[in-house]
Amino acid sequence: MDTPTLQTSRLILRPLAVTDAPAIQRHFNNWNIIKNLATVVPWPYPEDGAESFIRQQLAKVAAGEQSCHWVLVLRSGDDQAIGVISFRLQAESLKGNRGFWLAEPYWNQGLMTEAIEAVNDFVFKTLGLDSFHVLNAPSNVGSRRVKQKTGAEFVGYAELPHHNGERKAEKWKVTRASWLARS
Ligand SMILES: CC(C)(COP(=O)(O)OP(=O)(O)OC[C@H]1O[C@@H](n2cnc3c(N)ncnc32)[C@H](O)[C@@H]1OP(=O)(O)O)[C@@H](O)C(=O)NCCC(=O)NCCS
Repeated sequence: MDTPTLQTSRLILRPLAVTDAPAIQRHFNNWNIIKNLATVVPWPYPEDGAESFIRQQLAKVAAGEQSCHWVLVLRSGDDQAIGVISFRLQAESLKGNRGFWLAEPYWNQGLMTEAIEAVNDFVFKTLGLDSFHVLNAPSNVGSRRVKQKTGAEFVGYAELPHHNGERKAEKWKVTRASWLARS
C-alpha cells in the first residue's frame, strides 16, 4: 500500500525513503531513544542500521505487507527526517500496530502527539480500521502520555523485553468509535 503524505500545523509526514538514511542514522543512534525500545532493535546500532531498516521495510511493503512508514519533517525546517512513525494494519504480536520515535532535541514540544493525531485520522477516517493496539515500556512516560493524549485506553500488560531491562510492556487499544467521538 502507498503511504500518503500527511500535514499538521508544524510537521509534514512523508513516505520513508532510502535517502532518509543519513538523517535517521544520525538521530536514532542514541541510547536515550533505543533504551526505550524492544530488543528486536539492534544495539549497538550498526553503521548501516538506518539504511538496512529502510530497505527491509520498503521490501516488505513491495511484497504486499499492509503498512505505512512516515518520516517526520518540520515545515519550518530543511526537509530532513527528525523521526519515524510506522503503522502496520496487521498487528505484530510483539510490537502491536505502531512504532514511533523522535530525535531527542525535539522532545516535549507536543510534536509526536500532533503527528499521531494525523495518523489516527488517516487510519480511522481513510482506512476505516475499527481498532488497533500499541505498546510501551512501563517506564516510558513520554510514550504513555502521547497515547493518553491520542485516545488510547490501557488494556493490560504484554511480555516484551526492552533494552532498558524491562520485561513487560503496557498495552493500549485505540478504537475508531472513541477517536471519532473525540474529533
Ligand atoms: C516517546 C516520544 C516519541 C514522545 O515524543 P514527543 O514529541 O516528546 O511527545 P509529546 O511532546 O507529544 O508528548 C510527550 C508528553 O510526555 C510528557 N513527558 C515526557 N517525559 C516526561 C517525564 N519524565 N515525566 C512526566 N511527563 C513526561 C511531556 O510533558 C508530554 O506531555 P504533556 O504534553 O502532557 O506535557 C519521544 O520521547 C521519543 O522518541 N522517545 C524515544 C523513543 C520511544 O520511546 N518511542 C516509543 C516507544 S513505545
